[in-house]
Amino acid sequence: MQTRITELLGTAYPIIQGGMQGVGTAELASAVSNAGGLGILTALTQPTPDALRQEIARCRSMTDRPFAVHLTILPAAVPPPYAEYLDAIIDSGVKIIETAGNNPKDFIARLKAADIRVIHKCVAVRHALSAERAGVDAVSIDGFECAGHPGEDDIPGLILIPAAARALRIPIVASGGIADGRGMAAALALGAEGVNMGTRFVATREAPVHSNIKDAIVAGTERDTLLIFRTLRNTARVYRNAVSDEVIAIERQAGGASFEDIRHLVSGQRGREALASGDVQAGLVWASTAMGLIHDIPSCAELIERMVRECRESLSNALRLVA
Ligand SMILES: Cc1cc2nc3c(=O)[nH]c(=O)nc-3n(C[C@H](O)[C@H](O)[C@H](O)COP(=O)(O)O)c2cc1C
Repeated sequence: MQTRITELLGTAYPIIQGGMQGVGTAELASAVSNAGGLGILTALTQPTPDALRQEIARCRSMTDRPFAVHLTILPAAVPPPYAEYLDAIIDSGVKIIETAGNNPKDFIARLKAADIRVIHKCVAVRHALSAERAGVDAVSIDGFECAGHPGEDDIPGLILIPAAARALRIPIVASGGIADGRGMAAALALGAEGVNMGTRFVATREAPVHSNIKDAIVAGTERDTLLIFRTLRNTARVYRNAVSDEVIAIERQAGGASFEDIRHLVSGQRGREALASGDVQAGLVWASTAMGLIHDIPSCAELIERMVRECRESLSNALRLVA
């Protein structure tokens, strides 16, 4: 498969494993890259920039194919040392970065000087255009279906992908709600030149999370997510469980809720415990509506091989219907 995305990334297939806090370690990233996709290490999963350096070295020892590092940059009361994480990425010779959160414009000059390709993930055409103006090489556009933060516009991929493809000159990657070759075929037909998946890659053999989490994704349907933080205008799509239900109940109480009211429920620590212990009720677990399309726990190689085959079949079946 050849698109501007495979050319940019140097991969066999335009399939990307999205940055995932607590999941994007060398085990998963190297498995995706070895299977011909783009694996991504998630920088902030590592507790320090030095730990990230070690993780990059570990990933390099597990694959000789291209892989990337994801950095989510968000305002915070006590922000992580973003500049030092960036140093670790640049010094380690990583050649592809995925950014999310803030526009990466302040970092672009340094990244370009180091010959690093930049994919910026965002959720709106206006943000994608702003990232294009800032000089990123590609944009990953996350529809309302996605796990994590879909933004506040609620625009699903069926609209967002072609709208972005029409507006942008740089190549776009479709993200959110994609879990099989049919979704990939649809994304390509809508004008994307690659796909990005989160939830689907959590339910793979190599994902470093407890098997109960993978089983919960397989058992989950497209109706088993919940949108939390809506009232705080920081919407997040998560797996529906006791914690997300409690967050919603607090958000709905008379007078509304502030972040302080729910902080104890939504800490990253509790989420990490859920992923590691397999207690799906222990904290927030990020997952998307794509659960409705996920029915097994394959290896990354099996998944990617199957997606490529299904994508080709879907496109040729569709062509038969209209030719
Ligand atoms: C467990 C999990 C953790 C995630 N962590 C992050 C993160 O730290 N930063 C980020 O920008 N996106 C994060 N995401 C979102 C993914 O990168 C991706 O955009 C999203 O999962 C795409 O939607 P899909 O799950 O329907 O494929 C996460 C998703 C999952 C499932």
